[in-house]
Formats: sequence, structure tokens, C-alpha cells
Amino acid sequence: MSERRTAIVTGGGSGIGRSIALRLAEDGFATAVLDLNEDSAGQVAEEARQKGHEAVAFGGVDVSDRAQVNAAVQRVRDTLGGPVLVLVNNAGVTGFDPFLKIADETWDRIMAVNLNGPFYCCQAVVPDMKEAGWGRIVNISSSSAHSGQPYMTHYVASKAGLVGLTKSLALELGPAGVTVNTIPPGFVDTPMLRASEERGLLGGSVDHHAELTPVRRPGRPEDIAAACAFLVSEEAGYITGQVLGVNGGRNT
Ligand SMILES: NC(=O)c1ccc[n+]([C@@H]2O[C@H](COP(=O)([O-])OP(=O)(O)OC[C@H]3O[C@@H](n4cnc5c(N)ncnc54)[C@H](O)[C@@H]3O)[C@@H](O)[C@H]2O)c1
Repeated sequence: MSERRTAIVTGGGSGIGRSIALRLAEDGFATAVLDLNEDSAGQVAEEARQKGHEAVAFGGVDVSDRAQVNAAVQRVRDTLGGPVLVLVNNAGVTGFDPFLKIADETWDRIMAVNLNGPFYCCQAVVPDMKEAGWGRIVNISSSSAHSGQPYMTHYVASKAGLVGLTKSLALELGPAGVTVNTIPPGFVDTPMLRASEERGLLGGSVDHHAELTPVRRPGRPEDIAAACAFLVSEEAGYITGQVLGVNGGRNT
């Protein structure tokens, strides 16, 4: 593995992605905080730099647009230097619609961000990883891909697709020294979760669900970041194609 390790975290401006970006920067990765939202990406990169870590924001990048992804990855190489050896596909959008009411545009947008996005990002960085003979990809899926979730057919299908992408890509890239794993979060206290609570989509408050969770609390973004930090580490090199649930025991 080269000495210099550059990492990209998509959706790094908020919630889980923010925590992952801050954690990877703290762990010594030159971290690219990539997000559609320019302001929040800038704030997270600044927060990491204030703590003495190396991070740069790449805002205004839509992962569902292949040309934007390719251009952003090249800017990451140019700015942070060296190949991109770590990719965390975290950017995602959710949806809540009765199945028969799902419009084509809604279905397509969720697939475009949650599934095409990781496809484009992986294709953009895998050549760097193969060339280096070392790489780590972590895809943030969802525990709902295992349990199913009413009114979220589009979202759950996109996340189940991401689990399949993870498993197949892991088999293909194993011989090249690249691991590919997925973390399906379950019930993590982020702006996405709070927005669902406000819209009454959770079937109860966050506190109510925390009481039903074996560890008796909602997940924290830092819980996901800790698992991600391990999966991208040197010592996780024999772990690939795996689904590492981080959900307080809600799904076992
Ligand atoms: N919070 C949970 O409980 C939970 C549970 C299961 C899965 N997840 C998954 O975890 C990931 C992060 O979720 P979160 O709760 O932190 O959400 P969040 O809404 O707080 O953050 C998502 C980030 O992704 C960015 N983003 C959205 N579309 C984008 C695009 N097209 N291109 C680039 N960036 C884009 C947003 O700007 C935002 O910064 C998502 O993939 C989500 O599906 C979250």
C-alpha cells in the first residue's frame, strides 16, 4: 500500500457521512468530503482541518451524474495527490410512497442516487486501487434491505441492489487486493431520520423506537463511522463481501 492514502466519502456533508469523513481524516486519510450540498461539505472539511487533519470539500457534486463524478474524482487526485484508495459510498436519498403511487421520476431518482451513484463512483476509483494493488470500498446500504419496509419499495430495492453490488464486486476485486463491504445502518439519529420522524413516517417517535432497540438507544453516526474505520483499515484485509450490521441489535 502506498504511504499516502486518499479517501472519498460521498454525502460527507451530513449525518453518517459527516461522521465518517471526520473519522477518516482523524485516522490520517487525506479526505475528500464530496456532497451535493456545497455549504455543508465545506463546513465538514473545515471542521476536520480545525482539528489539524487533512480534508478538502468537493461540493455541488451529484453522484447520480457520471460526468460530474469523473470530474470530481480527477479533482480529488489533483488536489489531494495520489490515487484514491478508499471510497465510502454513503450519499443517499429516501422516499415514502404507497407502491401504486410511486411515480417513474421518484423511482428513477432514488435508483440514480442510491445505486447508480455507487456504480459510477466505483468505476471512477477502482483503476487507482487495482494499480496500487490495495483498496477499500464501503457501501452504506440499509437494514431495511434485509427486513423490508412498507411504503419504501423504491428505497429498499435500491439498497438491496447495493448489497448485491457489494458482494459481486468483492469477488471480482479480491485478487487485486481490494475489499468491498457494506454497512447497513439501522435507525441512526441523523437529519434524514429526524425528517422522517417529523413527517410521521416512523410509526412512532425516535424515543419510542429507542425503547424497542435491544441496546436502548438510537444509533449515532459515530457508531457507523467506527465500523467504517475498521473496514478501511489495513487489518481488515481478510474481510470482503460482508454485510456488517450496525443497528443496536434491531436486526440480527
Ligand atoms: N439514518 C439512518 O437511520 C439510516 C438508516 C439506513 C440507511 N441510511 C443510509 O445512510 C446514508 C446516510 O444517511 P443520513 O441519515 O446520514 O442522511 P442525511 O440526509 O443526513 O445525509 C445524506 C447526505 O447525502 C447527500 N446527498 C444526497 N443526494 C446526493 C447526491 N445525489 N450526490 C451527492 N450527495 C448527495 C446530502 O446532501 C446529505 O449531505 C444514506 O445512504 C442512507 O440511505 C441511513
